[in-house]
Amino acid sequence: MRYLVTGGAGFIGSHLCEHLLRRGDEVVVLDDLSTGAEHNLAAVTGHPRLRLRTGSAAELGTVLDAARDVDGIFHLAAAVGVFAILDHPLRSLRTNLHGTESVLEAARQRGIPMLLASTSEVYGKNDKPGLREEDDRVLGAPQRNRWSYADAKAIDEALTYCYHREFGLGAVVVRLFNTVGPRQRGHYGMVLPRFVAQALANEPLTVFGDGSQVRCFCHVDDVVPAMHALLTEESAHGTAYNLGSAEPVSIRELAERVIAVTGSASEIVTVPYSAAYGPGYEDMTSRIPDCTRARERVGFAPRHSLEQIIESVVAANRASLRSVS
Ligand SMILES: NC(=O)c1ccc[n+]([C@@H]2O[C@H](COP(=O)([O-])OP(=O)(O)OC[C@H]3O[C@@H](n4cnc5c(N)ncnc54)[C@H](O)[C@@H]3O)[C@@H](O)[C@H]2O)c1
Repeated sequence: MRYLVTGGAGFIGSHLCEHLLRRGDEVVVLDDLSTGAEHNLAAVTGHPRLRLRTGSAAELGTVLDAARDVDGIFHLAAAVGVFAILDHPLRSLRTNLHGTESVLEAARQRGIPMLLASTSEVYGKNDKPGLREEDDRVLGAPQRNRWSYADAKAIDEALTYCYHREFGLGAVVVRLFNTVGPRQRGHYGMVLPRFVAQALANEPLTVFGDGSQVRCFCHVDDVVPAMHALLTEESAHGTAYNLGSAEPVSIRELAERVIAVTGSASEIVTVPYSAAYGPGYEDMTSRIPDCTRARERVGFAPRHSLEQIIESVVAANRASLRSVS
C-alpha cells in the first residue's frame, strides 16, 4: 500500500513512517518542518519507498498533489504543544483548522480513506477517570488561548464526521492521550522529554502546578500500529477512538521516577502555572482514558510499562547526547 503521512517528519509521524516502511508500504511525507525535522527520519533516509515533500498541509493543491496515487492519508500535521499554541494562537488555529479541511477534501476528491490525529485535549477539564469517547467536553472560555487547540481539534473531528456521513468518506479519528518515546522534544511543553533532559543535565526538574495532576503515558510504538489498524479497518470508520495508556501517574511521581532511572542528582522544584504559562492558565487534575472501543475494534493493548517508557526515553536522550559530543 502507499500512504501519505502529513506531519511525517514529526515525533509520532516519523515512528509511523518507520512502521509503514517495515510493513513493506510506500510512504509520502508532507511536512512543513515547523516543529518536525528531517533528522527525525534519519533511520529511513534514502529508503527507496520513502519520499519527503516539504510543504503545507493547509494548502489543498499541495495535499492533492502529494495524495496522487496513494491509498490512504494519515493526517498528523498540526501546531502542537502548549507553548506553540500560547505563543502563536492565530497561526496554530489556522494550521489546525485549514490543514484538516484540506486533507479531508483531498481524500474525498481522491476517493481514499483518511485518519485524523485528534487529542485527549478535546475532553478539556472533564477529569472523570476512564474517559470514554462519548463523554462531554468541559472547556474554559474561548477567550483563553489555552483552549483553542482543543477547540480546533474538536472542529476537525466534526468536519471529519460530516465528510464521512455526507460524502461516504472512509474517515476515522484517533484521540491520542499523552504519547511519548524517543525523538519527542521537550522545549514546546512536553513533560517527559523535558524532565529527562533536565535530569541528564543534573538541573532541577520543573514541575508545573503542585504536581498532583495525574496523566497516563503511552509508548509511541504501542500507538502507531493501532493507527494503521484503524485506518485500514473499514468498520472502524465514522467515529473516534481513544488511544492511550491506563497506567496513571502524578507528575510529581513521574519526576521522581525519572530521577531514579537516570540516577540524577537533580532536585524537584514546583513552578506555579501562572509563571510557566502566564496568568489564568487552567489545567485538569486527571486524564485517564478508557480504550475499550479501540481494544474491541482492533485489539489495542499497550505493552510498555511506565518504567520501560522512561528507560527508552532516557536511553534515546543519552544516545543523542553522545552523538553530539
Ligand atoms: N504527542 C502527543 O502526546 C499527542 C497527543 C495528542 C495528539 N497529538 C497529535 O498527534 C499529531 C502529531 O503530534 P507530535 O507529537 O508528533 O508533534 P510534532 O510537532 O512532532 O508533529 C507535528 C508535525 O506536523 C508538522 N506540521 C505542522 N504544521 C504543518 C503544516 N501546516 N503542514 C505540514 N506539516 C506541518 C510539523 O513540522 C511536525 O513535523 C498532531 O496532530 C497532534 O495534535 C499528539
